[in-house]
Amino acid sequence: MALSGMMRDLSIGTPARAGTPACGPGTFRVSKHALLLSRVEWVHGVKLSGMLLGKRNRIMVSGKCTDGWPARVARWDARRPGTSASISVVCYNVRCMPPREWDAATYDRTSLPQETWGREVVDRLDLQGNERVLDAGCGTGRVTAFLVERLPRGEVVAVDGSEAMVAETRQRFGDRVEAFACDLLDLELERPADAILSTATFHWIADHDALFARLHAALKPGGRLVAQCGGAGNIANLVEAIEAVAHPALAGWPGPWNFATPAETTQRLARAGFTDIWTWLQPWPVQPEDPRAFVATSILGAHLDRLPAADREPYTNAVLDRLPEPVTANYVRLNLLARR
Ligand SMILES: C[S@@+](CC[C@H](N)C(=O)[O-])C[C@H]1O[C@@H](n2cnc3c(N)ncnc32)[C@H](O)[C@@H]1O
Repeated sequence: MALSGMMRDLSIGTPARAGTPACGPGTFRVSKHALLLSRVEWVHGVKLSGMLLGKRNRIMVSGKCTDGWPARVARWDARRPGTSASISVVCYNVRCMPPREWDAATYDRTSLPQETWGREVVDRLDLQGNERVLDAGCGTGRVTAFLVERLPRGEVVAVDGSEAMVAETRQRFGDRVEAFACDLLDLELERPADAILSTATFHWIADHDALFARLHAALKPGGRLVAQCGGAGNIANLVEAIEAVAHPALAGWPGPWNFATPAETTQRLARAGFTDIWTWLQPWPVQPEDPRAFVATSILGAHLDRLPAADREPYTNAVLDRLPEPVTANYVRLNLLARR
């Protein structure tokens, strides 16, 4: 898909040869219109005109949207009508990844591993039972249920970016839980929370600085953040298998995950204003009961969304074929504890 962005000539140098990667310093701008669409479509194409410097076949065009958000150039295509190179760049605005819809029914059926991790994370919350606690990225509510148990006189607010996930959560708890669909990057609570729980969610969000700023604002002073997500090295064996299975629709795509290190997470939490910060990694290999459904739903969902429907099953099979039996996902959890 190519949307037109604002045109801006890049710096002039040796013209790029058609069909070869080119690089060049400079920035491009994306019109407000394209930026808004990118929140729906995520991928937007930006047309650049000008001549780019070619250097060691590396793509070095960097992008900036009008509001300064970074964009990663993932694929490009150069043609040379006449004397000037016309470069069409498909870029991914890494800050603009909106939440996607999940197959909530299959997730609910196959998410025992996430529930098992989640129970341990909830146990790290010291609760009196009357607090107001937010579950940030509640999924179908299997982990939210532990919060409900622990808050007999309290309030549970459950937020998720997927409408289907929120619908399952609502069905599970009715009025007992205030559940609504919202991108955590847009989160605004009517009343701040005493604590925030989040499990298996943050690594789906590219911009942790923006995320932590939102969560900080959603907490009362002194409120706690207790969270866990995929961290550095998470599912490395799956990532290797996925990278080995090429598909043109995924070429150059940076992938859906942000597996951060404890050190960078500590810095980001501190920048957002948190104190009493603890972050650490916890290896946790998983052998799912139904590997096909688990991998397709919990791991490959964002990949499969990008493929033509007919290619989804063969793609999943090709990834699974690269994994020895019994299928093991080498999860590495990143734990976060912090206080506002
Ligand atoms: C693996 S599920 C975890 C759900 C639940 N916490 C659990 O442990 O079962 C990840 C969840 O994060 C949600 N999510 C991803 N990005 C999000 C975002 N930007 N805002 C809100 N929710 C998001 C997804 O919709 C999905 O429900």
